[in-house]
Amino acid sequence: MSLFTRVVMAGARNPVISRAVTKTVPGRALAHLFVAGDDLPSALSAAETLNGKGMLVSLDLLGEEVHDLATAEVALDGYLAAIDELARTGIDGNVSIKLTQLGLSVDRGFAQAALDRLAVAALGAATTVTIDMEDSRFTKATVDLYEAAQKQHGNLGICLQAYLRRTPADLERLAPLGGHIRLCKGAYVEPDAVAHQGTASVDAAFASLLERLMSFAECRPAIATHDSDLIELASRLGDKRTEPWEYQMLYGVRPQLQEQLVSDGHALRIYVPYGSDWYPYLTRRMAERPANTIFFVRALIGRK
Ligand code: FDA
Repeated sequence: MSLFTRVVMAGARNPVISRAVTKTVPGRALAHLFVAGDDLPSALSAAETLNGKGMLVSLDLLGEEVHDLATAEVALDGYLAAIDELARTGIDGNVSIKLTQLGLSVDRGFAQAALDRLAVAALGAATTVTIDMEDSRFTKATVDLYEAAQKQHGNLGICLQAYLRRTPADLERLAPLGGHIRLCKGAYVEPDAVAHQGTASVDAAFASLLERLMSFAECRPAIATHDSDLIELASRLGDKRTEPWEYQMLYGVRPQLQEQLVSDGHALRIYVPYGSDWYPYLTRRMAERPANTIFFVRALIGRK
């Protein structure tokens, strides 16, 4: 993880910076590039457009680390509504959830029950639920809850972060359960004991996990990156595979590459975030790319 990323992630916790991003026109303009809108209808409209371009979607109702179960309940209802709408509209997509948004750090039993309800609703709608991976305080609980729910319902997926030192073991444990496994680099600041540091070693870990993931026939690999070298490696490994796999990319990131992958005949799913609680998500997008932060700072001080 670069120094730039660490500085942006630390700065983002400052209330003055948070206000400068969430309450100003430049902050909202930046959010607009990466977030489909404030509500479910905006997300559905973006999803329809993406489906029209031959892309699958995963709807993400923004929110994380809720501190009370009433807020978690609202998120659960929001996700149930999204699943209903996927079924009603015939949009080709699923949902991506965060367990801390469903109360994991307040009451693990509540989060587990919420996950079960979503899995059942998704089965009824002939779709699936992907569990995002959050920071390493929650990795073990997330993996454990996924394992139990996937064994019971069979229509789940999970994100594994290449930078975590524990991920090779998690992959061996989870891939045989079927489902879909999203491999990403990892977006949080983590200590050296927990995660590989620096671009080269994270990329090497990703490449090695990618090769192993593509060797499992039981699961559907989802290769979540915008990194051209890793996309090319996935294509080479995927060509040797007979079972389905897909690329995944974030809404608004490298849209021309997204179109290129589809026109080359690849399956591609776009992660579509929506909702008003976009600040933590936007922070991670700013932290992983200096150009996004520079765009915001220049707009804020009135320079092109
Ligand atoms: P890298 O950061 O090296 O970027 C490669 C290139 O992509 C850059 O050079 C730039 O051109 C472009 N790019 C990347 N990020 C950009 C941005 N923000 N704005 C504009 N251009 C950008 N993480 C996590 O910890 N838990 C999770 O559950 C998920 N889920 C997830 C789902 C999906 C579908 C994706 C694509 C990613 C995630 N991530 C995630 C985020 C992931 O861990 C990682 O932080 C980002 O994808 C950036 O890493 P890249 O692999 O794209 O490479």
